[in-house]
Amino acid sequence: MPASVLVGAQWGDEGKGKVTDLIAGGFDVVCRYSGGANAGHTVVVGSKKLALHQIPSGIMYKDAISVIGNGCIVDPEVVIQEINTLESEGVSCENLRISGNAHLVMPYHKDLDGAHEQKLGKNLIGTTKRGVGPTYMDKMNRIGLRVQDLLDDNTFNQKLEAALAYINPILTDVYGLKPYDQKTLSVQYLNYAQTLKPYIIESSLYLNRVLDDGKSILFEGAQATMLDIDHGTYPFVTSSNCTAGGAVTGSGVGPTKINRIIGVAKAYLTRVGSGPFPTELTDEMGEKLRQQGAEFGVTTGRARRCGWYDAPIVKHSVRVNGLTDLAITKLDVLSCMDEIKVCVAYNCDGERYDSVPEFQSRFLHAKPIYETLPGWNCDITGIRRFEDLPKQAQAYIDFLEKLAGVRISIITVGPEREQTINRYWN
Ligand code: GDP
Ligand code: IMO
Ligand code: MG
Repeated sequence: MPASVLVGAQWGDEGKGKVTDLIAGGFDVVCRYSGGANAGHTVVVGSKKLALHQIPSGIMYKDAISVIGNGCIVDPEVVIQEINTLESEGVSCENLRISGNAHLVMPYHKDLDGAHEQKLGKNLIGTTKRGVGPTYMDKMNRIGLRVQDLLDDNTFNQKLEAALAYINPILTDVYGLKPYDQKTLSVQYLNYAQTLKPYIIESSLYLNRVLDDGKSILFEGAQATMLDIDHGTYPFVTSSNCTAGGAVTGSGVGPTKINRIIGVAKAYLTRVGSGPFPTELTDEMGEKLRQQGAEFGVTTGRARRCGWYDAPIVKHSVRVNGLTDLAITKLDVLSCMDEIKVCVAYNCDGERYDSVPEFQSRFLHAKPIYETLPGWNCDITGIRRFEDLPKQAQAYIDFLEKLAGVRISIITVGPEREQTINRYWN
């Protein structure tokens, strides 16, 4: 298996960290390809529970190389903090590599993120305020600073000067914020450089060499399909291509090298931040899911919006990512339900839609059409084989599989690495 991609199939927080950690042992390299510290991936191994924002979840395997690809944005402060936390937990970061082409998140990006959200008022996106939108804006506007700029003080200062000439007037004149002093920022970042220099590589060359040597790569997606800048619920999305195509541009590995793409979907659905969510439950049922599933953000601590599984959304993910496999996570959370609903289609102003409507104005009015399945009402967290699941749980998985049209290869029944039913992933 040369290269596989793992991608969020819903609105994020599907359990990508857990599934990455589960399968990463079968790969030589784990590479993040998009997003920044907006991600919050939880990995639970024995008594260790880690929340990773920047560093790939593969770091838990001491023999695997963890790469932050060029499609990512890097907040040096967060990376250094994460390295320190991991090392203090006994997890070595010796095998971490960071692409020199990845862009740097600067403090002004975080200021602009917060200020812009404030300006949007009730129309806010509900961002993580990690500076993601403004950093990708500067990348596209060709005034961004890259990780490789940390390698040379003169280059860094020249680029910072050019960036501030553009950014400072925006900070002061548009948002009424304080401008940044070049010297202070330069000292701060060139200080980070001392720690980060040993990790910086040319990642496309490196990753292709890995493949040429007959080794394998797992691309760990962050965010999710419905948060993708092109294929998600724009403008209520993040600012990168989190879908499988992003693994190609975000790493410099060609699409012909990728042979398996696994989408991760929760057995129900959650979303953080604003935007449409047809199956959202704002009643006590939603609260029950939130409590049972501990649905509170890893990055911001916000309560996640909760609702029933939405099959058209997963079908959309199957299509835009070209999924070959699905992982269904948190099946155990549904054990508390007498009945479980699944959205199989939408009613949009009287018209039935079996897939996500082509235009957002339609999607905003989508009312879910549900089918109701019986619950199983017993603890499944100790089950490791599909055949041992209660018949109702098997029927639920079979139903989701039929709706998605892709095999469900992994089912998770608890946060720990072992709390997993592996059907077809090897
Ligand atoms: P990610 O961003 O996709 O990596 O997901 P998060 O880490 O933000 O959120 C998933 C949460 O669910 C984490 O707290 C995980 O520890 C937890 N989790 C993952 N799989 C399972 C599962 O099968 N059952 C339960 N109960 N929790 C799980
Ligand atoms: P993981 O990798 C869930 C959401 C934010 C907001 C929108 C834009 O843990 O699944 P941004 O800060 O990216 O500009 O915010 O995207 N968002 C996430 N939601 N999980 C994430 O990451 C997310 N990363 C961003 O809540 O609605
Ligand atoms: Mg998360």
